[in-house]
Amino acid sequence: MHRVRELRLTDAAALLAFEADNREWFESHIEARNEAFYSLRGVTAHIHGYLQGLAGGTWHPFVIEDAGGAIVGRANLKDIDREGRTAQVGYRVAQAACGQGLATLGLKHLIREAQVRWGLEHLVAHVFADNVGSRKVLLGCGFVAGAAPSHAGEDRFVLRLQR
Ligand SMILES: CC(C)(COP(=O)(O)OP(=O)(O)OC[C@H]1O[C@@H](n2cnc3c(N)ncnc32)[C@H](O)[C@@H]1OP(=O)(O)O)[C@@H](O)C(=O)NCCC(=O)NCCS
Repeated sequence: MHRVRELRLTDAAALLAFEADNREWFESHIEARNEAFYSLRGVTAHIHGYLQGLAGGTWHPFVIEDAGGAIVGRANLKDIDREGRTAQVGYRVAQAACGQGLATLGLKHLIREAQVRWGLEHLVAHVFADNVGSRKVLLGCGFVAGAAPSHAGEDRFVLRLQR
């Protein structure tokens, strides 16, 4: 059984293992992180930043754990804008854990949190045009492709949330 839970400060070593083991996999689909991230110090600073974002109401970071408690995925609400009632979503799943519905599990969790905890009306995702898997995950969760591309090479998907 997998479960989604909030990121914790004590996750540094497990998160570093997850990110380092899957670095090439992630870099083939999403923007690369800088070199300094890939150390206990770098990941600890990263977690601190995300948890500060949570305290400030702009970020809500989660990990997906397997039955043994290992981190096999991440899902984040990013750039939460409570006035505009919108946020971005991001997710990544370990290569070895793909194809089991984990990205969908993580994204559904983000959708629920966006509605229940943050009272948002829209969620937005930016996806590279060739990221077939991620596009399927978004469409499966009800997102629709936006009219215009957002960033260079990326498409914008939007989900309107029920209030
Ligand atoms: C994209 C990614 C998140 C998908 O994770 P996942 O846990 O395998 O996704 P799910 O199991 O929830 O799959 C949902 C659907 O997408 C399909 N799918 C997933 N990856 C696919 C792929 N590479 N090609 C085709 N279909 C794919 C699944 O078959 C499933 O389809 P179904 O609903 O018809 O059964 C994962 O491959 C990943 O982390 N990639 C690297 C990082 C990344 O791209 N993040 C997203 C940035 S926008």
